[in-house]
Amino acid sequence: MREKSHERCFSIADLRELARRRIPHAVFDYIDGGAEDEITLTNNRRAFDRYQLNASALVDVSQIDLSTTVLGEKISMPLLLSPTAMTRLFHHEGEIAVVKAAQQAGIIYTLSSMSTTSIEDIAESSNTPKWFQIYVWRDRDLLKNFFKRCKETGYRALCLTVDLPVHGNRERDLKNGLTIPPRISPKLLLDLFRHPYWTYHFLQNDAMQLANVADHGLASQKQFILKDYIDSQFDPAVTWEDAIWMVEQWDGPFVIKGISHSEDAKRAVEIGANAIVVSNHGGRQLDHAPGTLEVLEDIVANVGSKIEILIDGGFRRGTDIIKAIALGAKACMIGRPYLYGLCAGGKEGVDRTLQIYQEELYRNMQLIGCRTISEIDSRILKKTTELAAIK
Ligand code: FNR
Ligand code: LAC
Repeated sequence: MREKSHERCFSIADLRELARRRIPHAVFDYIDGGAEDEITLTNNRRAFDRYQLNASALVDVSQIDLSTTVLGEKISMPLLLSPTAMTRLFHHEGEIAVVKAAQQAGIIYTLSSMSTTSIEDIAESSNTPKWFQIYVWRDRDLLKNFFKRCKETGYRALCLTVDLPVHGNRERDLKNGLTIPPRISPKLLLDLFRHPYWTYHFLQNDAMQLANVADHGLASQKQFILKDYIDSQFDPAVTWEDAIWMVEQWDGPFVIKGISHSEDAKRAVEIGANAIVVSNHGGRQLDHAPGTLEVLEDIVANVGSKIEILIDGGFRRGTDIIKAIALGAKACMIGRPYLYGLCAGGKEGVDRTLQIYQEELYRNMQLIGCRTISEIDSRILKKTTELAAIK
């Protein structure tokens, strides 16, 4: 039943197209969509068009070293996997396939606190460096319990996501009536017939759960709406004071994800965070936010010498990563692209995703004349302001 057509995908766009064909429409929309008019989603991509690349000629580029470090950890290339909720909904191999692909590629995996595989099962399934992402449940004992479980199982860093005080308005999901797991309605039935591979495994496998909080609130019900879960369980009153409490409780490398302007970046430095992720949640939360690459320069100018700066949102090409590094990011993260790979071919599909980034980075560094990540700097960039350059 399984075709290996992910091998014939040559770009992340090809993998996205294959993913679209492989899984039910409502599930694909949950991955692919953004908030409201999806302006932020578009802004993330458009931001890359503001920068062009200048190559240096006649550099010996016979050997390229893509490796770098993040929080003292050596990684094979400047790419990390962002946390994504509900991964088993997309493919039955779920988070385990993704963490195994990260291990094979030599990069860091971030497990979502809304994952469908537990902290412990992920820790057991691979020894690649792992981070754990947290949302702030109203129940603070649950957070303390997360910290303890993550320490016991060797997660390297805690990653607090700060751009989801409430769930964003994702109209595609509302129109599709998406529940977790999907409710078998007449409309979905047709979709299921069209995707026998996904449907077979969906029906074969154990009921999908929020594995780390399975007995909590709506998550213990057979079916729930993600927005209802988030808005009932997460605390919209969280402030920097709570972040300080978390830094103290965790007492280890601390990352804040979802920063989009330099004042917040400065606060992150003040409270003792070790890294920030410039992120707008892939355009899934506040609509009309600027593209992350557009705010990077200012954030680097303010805190670049004090904290490691990572970035995500719309990274689909090796050249996108090169541009962010030239602007001062330590590394980039991806969400949807590895999920497209997962939908397209399970672990092998995620392997293909990571291979595409690796090959594109390698080749483009050769074409630009940069042999190491540290050789990539602002001299290779030309900023273009003409709107005509923007699609
Ligand atoms: C996410 N994202 C996310 N972020 C987070 O901190 N915790 C989470 O549980 C999730 N869940 C999630 C699910 C899905 C399906 C997607 C697509 C995204 C956001 C994610 O970590 C990341 O910030 C964006 O996906 C980055 O943008 P790109 O690479 O998808 O364009
Ligand atoms: C999402 C959440 C759950 O983006 O982070 O879907």
